[in-house]
Amino acid sequence: MTAQPSARGDVAVVVPAAGAGLRLGPGAPKALRLLDGEPLLVHAIRRIAASPSVAMIVVAAPPAEVDAVGALLAPIAPVVVVAGGAERQESVAAALAVVPPSLGIVLVHDAARCLAPVSLFERVAAAVRSGSDAVIPALPVVDTIKEVSGDGDVLGTVDRSVLRAVQTPQGFRASVLRAAHAAAAGLHTDDAGAVEKLGLVVRCVAGSDLALKITRPMDLALATHLLTVSDPDAV
Ligand code: C5P
Repeated sequence: MTAQPSARGDVAVVVPAAGAGLRLGPGAPKALRLLDGEPLLVHAIRRIAASPSVAMIVVAAPPAEVDAVGALLAPIAPVVVVAGGAERQESVAAALAVVPPSLGIVLVHDAARCLAPVSLFERVAAAVRSGSDAVIPALPVVDTIKEVSGDGDVLGTVDRSVLRAVQTPQGFRASVLRAAHAAAAGLHTDDAGAVEKLGLVVRCVAGSDLALKITRPMDLALATHLLTVSDPDAV
């Protein structure tokens, strides 16, 4: 399968994939761990490349794995591979640096959310295309959330109706994402956080259960099951 830029091929997807994945236990860097016999990154790239809006994919790989990742992905889709950094936002910045100014929309997508469906990439890209500076997929929070002290004493219960669990791909007008990264002081756990600090509006669209982040061993078990779930957008 190859990326087929369409008439709407106005989107670059930046894929931070340089994390160690320590919470998964000892083993290869997380993006290269296997899910149903294939690296997480392969699952992710296959879905990204099948998204009609996507014209370019840039992967930030562990520095020691740049050549290996390039060889791994070459049969899947045309992908540019750069060396990631010590922190996620450095990996995103390294990948963003090679996106040409001609691509007006950038999606940032964690390799660890390797089952995010084509429909989610298209939903986020469409919302940016229709005028939003920054768009994030979000799901309602199902658990009751408590604020606690360092000792574990409950300080209060947060109104969960105003909370959302946020996923990737997160989409941006490219100039906004570049400005947010240039202005970012300190670490942020997602790119929308840097845009919020610029005072710009970040808009939520519906997230997807398939876009879960593989972090702990149980997530791998769940993702293995999700691969068997019939979804019209799953590749
Ligand atoms: O560890 P965390 O959950 O924040 O990782 C989210 C994504 O960021 C993963 O896809 C991981 O590979 C990537 N990452 C990265 N460079 C780092 C740390 C994490 O590209 N230094």
